[in-house]
Amino acid sequence: MERPGVGECFEPGKVWLDVAGAPIQAHGGGILYDCGTYYWFGENKDGETKFVANEVHRVDVVGISCYSSRDLLHWKHEGVVLPANMDDPAHDLHVSKVAERPKVIYNAATRQYVMWLHVDTYKYEYARAGVAVSDAPTGPYRYLGSSRPNDAESRDMTVFQDDDGSAYLIYSSERHSTLHISRLTPDYLGQSGQFIRAFVTRPLNGREAPAVFMHDGHYFMVSSGCTGWDANPAEYAMARSMLGEWQVLGDPCCGPDHETTFHAQSTFVLPMPGRPGCFIFMADRWQKENLRDSRYVWLPLRMSGSHATIAWHDRWDCSVFA
Ligand code: GAL
Repeated sequence: MERPGVGECFEPGKVWLDVAGAPIQAHGGGILYDCGTYYWFGENKDGETKFVANEVHRVDVVGISCYSSRDLLHWKHEGVVLPANMDDPAHDLHVSKVAERPKVIYNAATRQYVMWLHVDTYKYEYARAGVAVSDAPTGPYRYLGSSRPNDAESRDMTVFQDDDGSAYLIYSSERHSTLHISRLTPDYLGQSGQFIRAFVTRPLNGREAPAVFMHDGHYFMVSSGCTGWDANPAEYAMARSMLGEWQVLGDPCCGPDHETTFHAQSTFVLPMPGRPGCFIFMADRWQKENLRDSRYVWLPLRMSGSHATIAWHDRWDCSVFA
């Protein structure tokens, strides 16, 4: 029988248990680093996988989980901080819908933790970005509603907070033919009106699952192609500013299985505090027949100039960055 990861080192693709011994449920997630603690937010998919039609496999919405850790290895479940709505079928977060890829950033001016997420109907036709706020990282988050940012479809998304306090919503749009990068208002709760359409019209080769990070004064984005729950090659791109021109640089993954992103899909890139050029690449190894058993693939991402490298490791810890 497979031995689950118990938190002594990262074991990409293995079952990863929280400190209470339960498998971590934080898929399509992202991390907020706040006052020495890491908070991992993600989709709780702890339900039965249903096959709908047209290759759609889904789990009823449970909600967004939050886990906390000081070392990135041992995670405490802080609960479902934005739960599904059980009784109103019209509600964005009703169990029958889709709530994916939550990301949380802190707004120092309003002292609020702001969560953005992809909300949708099970057929993925609603294509909206939802927003929720909390006074504490561990919630509870108050759902404020959803919108089509800049009047455009919004599916896979992430949020990026720049050094100057400005923040951006990055979302797959226009039937996956472009990723929009939209500057948020100063309170992070809406769109400022300034946005660009990046990676425009690469038919059948649109981008999703975006993850943005900064290195050496430049902005980098890892994303996947669009093949649903199935894995495909990652690609990264660079820009001098978030709303600038994005230059595609290729596949950051190397070695065996690089062409499937090690059987996974990007979700977030976490900078290692005090270690320039060192990041953790976070990805999801989806198990579409049993989504609750989807695994996490966390790997070291290293930058050398503008060159990104992600290599497979069976087991590793942060000493690789020493
Ligand atoms: C993927 C997307 C996932 C999920 C899935 C549903 O393309 O990245 O977050 O939406 O499709 O099929």
